Amino acid sequence: AQWGDEGKGKVIDAMAGGAHAVIRGTGGSNAGHTIKIGQDQEFKMQLVPSGILHPSVWCFIGNGCVVDPAALLEELARLNGAGIDISKFRLSPLAHLVMPWHMLIDRLADHLGRLEPLGTTGRGIGPCYADKATRRGLRVCDLLADDLGERIARLRTFKAAELDALVPDASVAIPSSAALTQTLRNQGEALRPYVADTDVLAREALARGQHVLLEGAQAAMLDIDFGTYPYVTASSSTAAGCVVGSGLSPRDVSAIIGVAKAYTTRVGAGPFPSEMPPDIADPLRERGREYGTNSKRPRRCGWFDAPQVKYACRVSGITSLVLTKLDILSGLEKLQVVTAYEYDNDGYAEPPARLYGSTKLMPVMVPAPGWTEDITGIREWWQLPESARRYVELLEILVGTRIAAIGTGPHRDDMITRPPLTVPHYPVNGP
Ligand code: IMP
Repeated sequence: AQWGDEGKGKVIDAMAGGAHAVIRGTGGSNAGHTIKIGQDQEFKMQLVPSGILHPSVWCFIGNGCVVDPAALLEELARLNGAGIDISKFRLSPLAHLVMPWHMLIDRLADHLGRLEPLGTTGRGIGPCYADKATRRGLRVCDLLADDLGERIARLRTFKAAELDALVPDASVAIPSSAALTQTLRNQGEALRPYVADTDVLAREALARGQHVLLEGAQAAMLDIDFGTYPYVTASSSTAAGCVVGSGLSPRDVSAIIGVAKAYTTRVGAGPFPSEMPPDIADPLRERGREYGTNSKRPRRCGWFDAPQVKYACRVSGITSLVLTKLDILSGLEKLQVVTAYEYDNDGYAEPPARLYGSTKLMPVMVPAPGWTEDITGIREWWQLPESARRYVELLEILVGTRIAAIGTGPHRDDMITRPPLTVPHYPVNGP
């Protein structure tokens, strides 16, 4: 719903079984999700949609993603090595490629021309989307084109000059045109069997009456328009962005499931009004293992921010919510929930985007009783302690969107479902 770190991997994994295909349509290796199966199998993914763990489900990286070919091949090899069937993976020829200069610009020049650095993931995402917008990008289809060498030579000269103007002599780290072309050609050959018109395949599945699940990455608060700009990612990461990036149309969407944590976390710099004091945040971070899936960066922790989730529900059109990690709050005697914001004696029911960066924007919090019981693995609503149920109901009322499922642990089945689990038309156990 908000930042993309809300535990979506498990939810997508649970829903993927009912889908013909799962498609990622935004972002690149900046995302990450962890899925646990059984007691000891854990998968960390960056680019490949979580649906890959279901042998019968097709998995697509759509046109809206930015792909680092080396990272993708490495991830596919890792999945293959773990015995996961990757034969149903497909990559859109229209997806843009993250090049070595994108990563260098991202890592070396994040602080330039800004009041403070964004704290990006350093995976070249922003510079790659920038080149897409200036029409200087390379796409997956270009890997397989005859004129690849010529394009690389021109681009390399241009990009080396740009990089050196930002950081003197930084371009020495870019491989020569010949070496880069050869690497890309090899990567293109390795990826060739997977390249397919994923938008057409998805359209055909819908025409056959099958279900397609679009997997979000990042989310509303990191969206380039609606997020906490400039502390955002470089793509449209609301639900609408997922639709464009997968090659489908708004008419195709029947339900939008938002995943929100029972508390709030965020990585990187930027405003965070519900941030907890360190004596509460530090143990919570350990209990909830709140470290970036891929970047390993510690996540900042805060209380559940109802106006923010409400805002995310509005800008993404979320039809129901999955509340994750309720078990992590066990043991806290008193919880807090942000119910509104105040700024210059005015009250706001949603975070006002234009004021969000201001230190004068103050959260209004209400206390809620906590619980001490361990609720890990509980699967029935009525088995939750009374105050845990009241807490969920409070959030639901404040946000105004049905909380249809609740996560109570890291494993695939640690989930309470409350009717309706999803909106009609999407049978979770198969079409
Ligand atoms: P970038 O996407 O690498 O350009 O990073 C821009 C901002 O988005 C940084 O604050 C990142 O920490 C944040 N970000 C990007 N991807 C994710 C994600 O998947 N989860 C959470 N934060 C992310």
